[in-house]
Amino acid sequence: TSASTYDYIVVGGGTSGLVVANRLSELENINVLVIEAGGSVYDNVNVTNTGGYGNAFDTDIDWAYKTEDQEYGGGAPQTLRAGKALGGTSVINGMVYTRAQKSQIDAWETVGNKGWNWETLFPYYKKGEGFQVPSNYSWLEGSGVAYEPADHGYKGPLKVGWSSDQLNDGLAQKLNTTYQNMDAPIPYNKDANGGQMVGYTLYPKTVDSKLNIREDAARAYYYPYKSRNNLHVWLNANVNKLTWKSGDDVTADGVEVTLANGTTSTVKASREVILAAGSLKSPLLLELSGVGNPDVLSKYGIETKVNLPTVGENLQDQMNNGLAFDSKTKYTKAPDYVAYPSVGQVFSNATAVGKQLLANLPKYAAQVASANGNVTKSKDIERFFKIQWDLIFKAHIPVAEILLEPSGYTYDTEYWATVPFARGNVHISSADPTAAASIDPKYFMLDFDLQAQTQAARFIRELFQTEPFASMAGSETSPGLSSVAADADDEGWSSFIKNNYRSNFHPISTAAMMPKEVGGVVDTSLKVYGVSNVRVVDASVMPFQVCGHLQSTIYAVAERAADIIKAEN
Ligand code: FDA
Repeated sequence: TSASTYDYIVVGGGTSGLVVANRLSELENINVLVIEAGGSVYDNVNVTNTGGYGNAFDTDIDWAYKTEDQEYGGGAPQTLRAGKALGGTSVINGMVYTRAQKSQIDAWETVGNKGWNWETLFPYYKKGEGFQVPSNYSWLEGSGVAYEPADHGYKGPLKVGWSSDQLNDGLAQKLNTTYQNMDAPIPYNKDANGGQMVGYTLYPKTVDSKLNIREDAARAYYYPYKSRNNLHVWLNANVNKLTWKSGDDVTADGVEVTLANGTTSTVKASREVILAAGSLKSPLLLELSGVGNPDVLSKYGIETKVNLPTVGENLQDQMNNGLAFDSKTKYTKAPDYVAYPSVGQVFSNATAVGKQLLANLPKYAAQVASANGNVTKSKDIERFFKIQWDLIFKAHIPVAEILLEPSGYTYDTEYWATVPFARGNVHISSADPTAAASIDPKYFMLDFDLQAQTQAARFIRELFQTEPFASMAGSETSPGLSSVAADADDEGWSSFIKNNYRSNFHPISTAAMMPKEVGGVVDTSLKVYGVSNVRVVDASVMPFQVCGHLQSTIYAVAERAADIIKAEN
């Protein structure tokens, strides 16, 4: 194909990329090209079915990235799923729509990102949201569905609400009573999306409530707008790297792309290239283009264009485990109950735990720094860890997410400690853009991460020993008391947890928005340091993990990014 020119090229038509492309193409004099590796999944039932979570896994729309063997986390590699389709990971995710604790977003500013805080991001959560008011809305009438009107946006493209699977028969109230009866009661939280997450709640999802199908980035931000003649999308096309203008400052003039038919060509961007390929791809595209750690690049014969050694570092993910119990009644629907306990509700000795963790932070920071060859500095990591410590022990953010999913005669639970301290990385392992990368989240590298994951499991056991749930449930089927004894110590839980966890599929921070001196890859306008016209807009830029699921925050960041870009033009 012959080279053509666009104002903006967006690499990756996923969750973030389609938001940016949509908003930029509101400007009629601007031409936007989205280049997406996958195809359209508009009619794919593995996508649209609201009860089909997992059906798309390991199909051709799942990148199913493999990690390195997890040295501290059971030894085996893990699978990191990500959507390969127009809509990106929003087409295969669990559709949960929960945001963050206010103080967590404020921490983005504390770490040095002036102007990025809850107050400035909250309007963007709402801007993207098209909240669908539930028709049979009443906490007292059985379903448990409730919401706070002021916490939602009603005019945005992304449909958020409840599916008909949600409607149930009073289980929500029984679970609420059980949470209230626990040793450290978990309060009821009518709506976790207003910046205060701690408590027990029923979250909304990205669903089209009327049609009862999944809502995703393509359905929200692309299909209704695809007739715009300045919004272009190439499907089944892989971007290999950025191409550079000759000259002294580092300026991209486009990208190299391989089309479905195997031909490779370049496409020009007269203004900017926006990387939105996801946290496990965008940093690799920077490396393949010569932006990164010279030690990494030189191994594969790539000339360093910009020495930015923290590209691909700071990777943060969570670990997901589950416990299962028999149920005495049969459930045919799968409602969405979640509890977000804070540290004092999970650890009875929270003060002592906090003291010990605080004393360990310098050691943890040194461990992380040494594992990445001191590319991120121990003193900087220690500061980030102290911010994270303050969030847990002073701001009392949720330390765990506890999901309860009744199905048939079973109560399944899934849970994760929300803010692990481990920091891993993702790097190229070849100059060939189609080669698998080296992905190493370093799960369970630091003791506290296992301690928190263990304590959350004990919390779930306590929940099932508390009335009325204690009488509604039968015995624990996984792991079961014969496998992990009732009074098991941390060591006793360790092998169950490390042999049965999976990635929680929330990898972030691999091109972190932070000041350059402390290891940032992009500045507060999401521009890559040392490059005049390349931004990263996706999960890569989030400096810290959030307690909610990622998508709402990713949509909000992308909405804000679009405004930042527009304001510069
Ligand atoms: P995203 O992955 O959406 O987009 C990247 C796009 O770039 C993809 O379309 C990809 O194909 C494309 N691409 C990559 N390389 C390319 C290249 N070289 N050239 C061209 N295109 C390229 N969150 C939540 O809030 N609630 C939930 O319930 C869940 N559940 C969940 C389950 C599972 C299984 C996963 C994997 C993830 C979740 N998440 C979630 C997380 C959430 O869905 C996820 O973090 C975001 O969708 C990521 O958005 P991004 O824009 O960062 O990348």
